[in-house]
Amino acid sequence: MSTIESILNETRIFQPSQEFIQQANLSGMQAYQALCAEAELDHQGFWANQAKKLIVWHKLFSEVLNDKTPPFYQWFRDGELNVSYNCLDRHLATQGDKVAIIFESDEGEVIRSTYRELHRRVCQFANALKSQNIKKGDRVVIYMPMRIEAVVAMQACARIGAIHSVVFGGFSAKSLHERIVDASAVAIITADEQVRGGKQNPLKATVDEAILMGNIPSVKSVIVYQRTGAAVPFNPMRDVWWHEITQNASAQCEPEWVNAEHPLFTLYTSGSTGKPKGVQHSSAGYLLGTKVSMQWVFDYKPADVFWCTADVGWITGHSYVAYGPLAMGATQIIFEGIPTYPNPGRFWEIIQKHQVTTFYTAPTAIRSLIKLGADLPTQYNLSSLRLLGSVGEPINPEAWIWFYEKVGQSRCPIVDTWWQTETGCHMIAPMPGAVPLKPGSCTFPLPGISAAIVDEAGHDVENGKGGFLVIKKPFPSQIRTLWGDPERFKKTYFPEDIGNGHYYLAGDSAYRDNEGYFWIMGRIDDVLNVSGHRLGTMEIESALVANPLVAEAAVVGKPHEVKGEAVIAFVVLKGQYPQGEEILRLTNDLRDWVAKEIGPIAKPDEIRFGENLPKTRSGKIMRRLLRTLAKGEEITQDISTLENPAILEQLKNPSK
Ligand code: WT7
Repeated sequence: MSTIESILNETRIFQPSQEFIQQANLSGMQAYQALCAEAELDHQGFWANQAKKLIVWHKLFSEVLNDKTPPFYQWFRDGELNVSYNCLDRHLATQGDKVAIIFESDEGEVIRSTYRELHRRVCQFANALKSQNIKKGDRVVIYMPMRIEAVVAMQACARIGAIHSVVFGGFSAKSLHERIVDASAVAIITADEQVRGGKQNPLKATVDEAILMGNIPSVKSVIVYQRTGAAVPFNPMRDVWWHEITQNASAQCEPEWVNAEHPLFTLYTSGSTGKPKGVQHSSAGYLLGTKVSMQWVFDYKPADVFWCTADVGWITGHSYVAYGPLAMGATQIIFEGIPTYPNPGRFWEIIQKHQVTTFYTAPTAIRSLIKLGADLPTQYNLSSLRLLGSVGEPINPEAWIWFYEKVGQSRCPIVDTWWQTETGCHMIAPMPGAVPLKPGSCTFPLPGISAAIVDEAGHDVENGKGGFLVIKKPFPSQIRTLWGDPERFKKTYFPEDIGNGHYYLAGDSAYRDNEGYFWIMGRIDDVLNVSGHRLGTMEIESALVANPLVAEAAVVGKPHEVKGEAVIAFVVLKGQYPQGEEILRLTNDLRDWVAKEIGPIAKPDEIRFGENLPKTRSGKIMRRLLRTLAKGEEITQDISTLENPAILEQLKNPSK
């Protein structure tokens, strides 16, 4: 409720400037509304036109949407294409010498790669993959640092029709193992080490650790890119060096023409139960979504220098690093490091040095940059910027205003983009030359995206009332299924009771204000949003309980100034309730344990020990009480169903 209130107080409106409107791909509210009306009138015709305009087809589709077996929708299904061809080959004749990627390493080394060069590298690496016997439809796990090579690996998979599954380099061996097993991957592409903020982190050793956990007979090869040259374990029966298998590979590689519905990739994301979900995307529909949103939301122009700061381990790094910008033929920045190294001005330095025009980042990064130096951006020349973007969580109006004034110098619109791993591309976001902005609102759905807010029965709620965010009609870039688990896909995203199983349920609550602007309120399931990334509370709980000392654990979120949400764990030990210094030692041990089990992002910020957890008579943990305790607030809720009220006192005192 507090979210609704704080947001409702926000009344400022920011109109696009005349200058921006004049150059925009889509100018003025009427143009936006006309496009929406066109889509409304003929949903399939609208998307078919976009698909013909934006994709180079090897064989044109004859059917637009197959909706005979909802929710297993198929778009353009008899069409044939290759996504890598659409990202690389198609630009060679017109702009082969244009810079595709400006890469800046952690140490500050800059490498530029043109479309021709990138195409050559992708073809060579695709041939190298073939030499490892990797074929169309095989799953390949990519566990790489944020470098050009990560994009080369993804594009090379797309070129031969292999299905990549990128695992974020910050995930632990355990998480990596779980994903390799679920995907039955035949190969893993990794690096000796990754370098971020001056620190080396092992990748290859972590891959080995994951493989040693067993149960993965599917993995036939591990391809290792040499980033630092550090000595790493090497098994000559299974491991190969990237440079060795690429060296003599041919630079010719005919793309594998695949069906429109051929899976381009799977990407694992957290759900409300323990096991991560392998979100499966298509080839054509996904490509279309990333491309159309580059034009609509990022107002893409050929002279742009585009910079999305997301790692390729997340969906944002798939859609707006590895695919969208290349499909447009854009010049983009890829940065290996972190915003604060070697100094807190690193982002501003990069924008100034490479004349970035479009800067897309996350509220958590914005908040930490404010903390590090609210006036720092004014010491740099950021006049090349023309558009800013935000993604991952609701951006609080204070951070929005700072971003607008200090970074965008009150000149650049901010596109607050709501979407998800499952939607593949932006769903609700302003077209910056058309839609007046309200700080904290992601504004309106894109044309052809039938977003709505409904109640439990699936009926539209009136403006001002909160409800479930749904998308009523199928859209090209949507998730196709969960890898190996169509039942879970159906149950999670198309529940029978809401819209008869025909509405895509996003899992967020939201409301519209009296002008129809969308405001996202938060998740409806047990999922936390930490630094713009989804973490299932169940996943962290399972990790804690896997520790031999832990009997029971409950994890909740608590608002956090920089990260959005902090992870608070309530833990019951098998043995004695800890005292004195033991508390500190156990807290550190368990935090490290979770980092090892899942990855450092899931580390609890705080652990509170108790002899028990607050439960109902039927044994259900009362999470709402834990949330109140975590925030340090007094409990005013009804506790009459609570079996053990005395426990609240014990859990109240954080053991700092
Ligand atoms: C969840 C999706 C999409 C890329 C990054 C995260 C939250 C995302 C916004 C936004 C408010 C947002 C939602 C959503 N979210 N963007 N602009 N305003 N909330 O991808 O890990 O799939 O998480 O992030 O809760 O459901 P993801």
